[in-house]
Amino acid sequence: MQTQIDEILAAINSYEAQNKEQLEGFKTAYTGKKGVLTELFDQMKTLPADQRKDFGQRVNQLKEAAQLKLKTLTEQIENAQLANVSKPHDLTLPTIPATYGAIHPLTHTRERIVQIFERMGFNLSDGPEVEDDWHNFTALNFPPNHPARDMQDTFFITKGTANDIALRTHTSSVQVRVMESQRPPMRTISIGRVYRNEAISARAHCIFHQVEGFYIDKNVGFKDLKDTLYHFAKEMFGKETKIRLRPSYFPFTEPSAELDISCFICGGKGCNVCKYSGWVEIGGCGMIDPNVMKSSNIDPDQYTGFAFGMGIERITMLRYQIKDLRLFTENDVRFLKQFDGTL
Ligand code: DAH
Repeated sequence: MQTQIDEILAAINSYEAQNKEQLEGFKTAYTGKKGVLTELFDQMKTLPADQRKDFGQRVNQLKEAAQLKLKTLTEQIENAQLANVSKPHDLTLPTIPATYGAIHPLTHTRERIVQIFERMGFNLSDGPEVEDDWHNFTALNFPPNHPARDMQDTFFITKGTANDIALRTHTSSVQVRVMESQRPPMRTISIGRVYRNEAISARAHCIFHQVEGFYIDKNVGFKDLKDTLYHFAKEMFGKETKIRLRPSYFPFTEPSAELDISCFICGGKGCNVCKYSGWVEIGGCGMIDPNVMKSSNIDPDQYTGFAFGMGIERITMLRYQIKDLRLFTENDVRFLKQFDGTL
């Protein structure tokens, strides 16, 4: 009997537990309901009365030893777990790279354009993208059968009514809206989306953006137009930039011109961006036609003005040498994330 208890004591004392499972194993073997101790206490009941006391003392000593051991093992395992949790992070590991959003290149260009014209005293105007015939065409002196009204170019929403509704084909419509609601002097730009029924390719899209600007006051002349555009071109494309105005036709301006800038990529020597001409076209401009003034009740004998319109995509493609217009709308992050710099 004594040797049996001594053996159990030795086993308890030498028990080692590295984890919770092994700790549970100890409980099952010794201190648990079906453990050795319960068995020994049961055994005690069967002993003759004179042996019981002595045996009971020993089993109690064994029980104390087992409980002490259980406490020690439990503490050991808890401490080991704590040590694992509070282990410092491996500071030599590389960091997880933070990914930032980037400003869309068209937004960059738009903000730069606003900045340049605001410094010249232009404010910002806005108008609807769903526009009526009056603001998109008629008030801008488009003759009734002008080809630009044709289904080929314009996305009509209602057609055949006295005042057709369409997606605006240019931001010149905002010019009319401002002229109707304000009185000269007026100096404003408007930037926004325009729509044309064109097949999508690297050079054309059915949705694109324009900036429209105009200035109406007493004695505004062609020289003011040229000065304004020249200053804009230098600010936008660099100090060395030159401009060229080629005679052209628009219903809403007379005289009208096409606006070219000297190719800032080759410095005018000729390259594939300017198709070896040294010049690239960025928009149209001219002196506001007296008929346009009249349709908004502005007296053309008292006031004169200039207007211009430029393509935001065109300017952006030149600025960043982007070869395909479709990149602007495809949302490819490999393209977009390149534009996180300043304006
Ligand atoms: N609205 C013209 C277009 O979409 C651009 C334009 C040309 C605007 C001459 C003007 C202008 O204000 O004077 O092609």
